[in-house]
This record gives sequence, structure tokens and C-alpha cells, in this order.
Amino acid sequence: MNGFLLTGIGHLTTNVGAAIADAVVAIDGKTVSYAGSAGSAPQSEGRTVIDCEGAAVLPGFVDAHTHVVFAGDRSAEFARRLAGVSYSEIAAGGGGILSTVTATRDATEDELFALASKRIWRMIAAGTTTVEIKSGYGLDPEAELRLLKVARRLGQELPVTTKTTFLGAHSVPAQFKGKRDDYVQLVIDEMLPAAAPFADYCDVFVEEGAFDVDEGRAIFDAAAVLGLGARVHAEQLTHSGGAILAASIRAASADHLDHATPEDAQALANAGVAAVLVPGASYTLRSDQAPGPMLWDAGCTVALATDCNPGTSYFESMAPIISLGVVQTGLTTDQAIWSATRGGALSLGFDELGVVTPGAPADLIVLDAPSPDHIPYRPGTNLVRQVFSSGRSVLTNG
Ligand code: NIG
Ligand code: FE
Repeated sequence: MNGFLLTGIGHLTTNVGAAIADAVVAIDGKTVSYAGSAGSAPQSEGRTVIDCEGAAVLPGFVDAHTHVVFAGDRSAEFARRLAGVSYSEIAAGGGGILSTVTATRDATEDELFALASKRIWRMIAAGTTTVEIKSGYGLDPEAELRLLKVARRLGQELPVTTKTTFLGAHSVPAQFKGKRDDYVQLVIDEMLPAAAPFADYCDVFVEEGAFDVDEGRAIFDAAAVLGLGARVHAEQLTHSGGAILAASIRAASADHLDHATPEDAQALANAGVAAVLVPGASYTLRSDQAPGPMLWDAGCTVALATDCNPGTSYFESMAPIISLGVVQTGLTTDQAIWSATRGGALSLGFDELGVVTPGAPADLIVLDAPSPDHIPYRPGTNLVRQVFSSGRSVLTNG
């Protein structure tokens, strides 16, 4: 028999019940066949035995919001922001998202793939086994399609599970300055139908200076006809109505939510919309953090994600995001670990992921620490010792 037997697990997070001390996990093929106490565990029976020596094991991280396919370098913009120029001022001057659009349009599909795959390999090395990938730096029919093709290819060629999201309404491109209605129409009439075969979701940046609620609704309505679910960049820089829009269309997720109100939280919870928090963006922009405990207490499915992008959140690892989720948004460690695994999976419609239980895909990580409490506590250290993705050992650190 092939497979693995992970023995001597000091702390097993299954996300289907309380954590188990002195646990064993058996992996056969792509799935977990046993996850429980050592006392009733199977023998090795030909499996490769890995002694975890008291270390913690938990589901692989599910990063439910990334913009990982891009070219160019915005480190100079970061320096300008530190000197006091705001993100919105830089965007209004043609920098920001639009500068990444210029560099990304100039890159070939292979160049974009090479850049993004390096980033995703670093994500895997830090324990991520599932990634949501958005387009949004093409902003014309051909370039958006190129990004989505790269996103799909990443899921096929790298040992991660992916979902892809069309974000053609990320910003109004320079060519459509003063003609925003025409751009929204292009998104609806041309870009969405071309993107649909390569995308699972549609996203819109609902924000002052980007797209308003009515434009968002029109785009999401067209996307729904094509079978795409909705994810909404909502209430990031200002309170713009994205959360209530997400609730009214029963989106899969509302993301960012830094300016969400108690009414927004209740509406999202009632509509079953996941709240995807991206504290790395708030940290980098030195802006308000999302009200994590309020969203959690309202009954939302909360997820934590990197928002990996070159402007607001160039984080590839989930550990610092979990730490920000605890230290800055106020989630408990248990809530943050759940949000970075099971919450992310549920927000992406992956009901079988984010758990370690018999029958589930064997996406899990072995830490070089006795409990997941060490993740937010030591955010500058990669504590991931080994990564399993769909039953394969895909990476061993140290
Ligand atoms: O999630 N808010 C919009 N989009 C990204 C930022 C993109 C960029 O600045 O390049 C975000 O923060
Ligand atoms: Fe984002």
C-alpha cells in the first residue's frame, strides 16, 4: 500500500471537532483515511511513516483572495505612500492599479505564468494548498483573458487547488477616462462572455473612484446569467454600499469590509455571504482594520486571505495574515486558524476542504511547533515543516 502515516502528532486540528492530542493521520491516495487518536490508529501497512515528534498538524491554508498574476514593480509607490501620498491620490494620478495594468499588458502569457508560479511556490512553502486567483490587471478583452488562462494553468501545473475570478471591473482603464459607461458595457457585452469559460466567479471593486453599486449590480447580474458566482471588493477605503449589494445578490463573499457597519454584518450573515478579511491590505495602507469580531459574532463565515497584490498587500504567506487577524482585527487564535482554513474553503464553495477527516482530500501541513498558537505568535518565521497537497508530499522545509 502507498500513502503516509503521520504519527506522534502533538496537536491535530481537524475543523470537525475539538483538536486531538497524541494523534495519527493516515493518507491513502489523495485522501485522508484516518484522523484520530493514536490508540485506535491503523498500522503502517506499507505506508511511509513520518514521526511528527509532537508537532502540530492542521489543514493546509486556503487563501481565498489573491491578485497573484501581475507584472511590474510598485515598490517606489510604497515609498511615496510612506512619505504621505495617499493610495487614492496615486490612483487618481494614473499610478496604482493602472501602472500594474501597463506592465501586465506588456508581459506575455509565459512571463506572467513564470512570475505567478514563483509567488505560488512561495505560498506553498508557507503552507497554502488552495488559492483563489483574480484577473484585473488586463482591463481589456484580450489581456483579461490572458490573465485568466494563466490562472487556470497555475491550478493545472502547480500542486495547489484553485478557483479563478474575473475582475475586469477593477478600475476604469485610461483609454476609457470620461467614458466609464462604455467600459461597463464592454465588460458586460464582451469581456464577461469571453472570460466565463475560464472563471468560476466575477468580482467588482465597489468603491469611490472605481465602480458604484449600480454598475456592480449590472455586472453581477450579467455574470449570474453566465453561471458565475459573485465575490465583491466591498467597503475597503470608504463605506460605498458593496456589502449590502453582496447580500442582496447572495454573493459567495464580500471582501475587505474595513468600513462595514453592524447592519452590513447582519445582512451578510442573513444572506450567507462569507466575510473575507484581508488585514495585510489595511496594514500596508495604515488604514482601519475590518471589524473581525463583529462580523464573526453576527454569524458570518469569516475567512482570512492575503489579498496578494503589488499595491496594497504584497503578502504571500498566510502566517502573518493570521497574526494580523489576531493582533489587529481581534479574532481569537482559534477563530483565525479556522478562518484561514475552513472559512476560506467554505467561501470558495469547497465544502470538502479545510478539514482533516476521513474521505477529505489530504491537504495538510506539519508545523515545526507544538500547536497552531505559534503561528500568530511567531509571524516572522515560517513554521511549516512539510506540506501535503491531495495526498502528495509536495514540499519539505529544513
Ligand atoms: O484588493 N482594492 C482593489 N484591489 C486591490 C489592490 C490592487 C492594487 O493596488 O494593485 C486590493 O487591495
Ligand atoms: Fe483585492
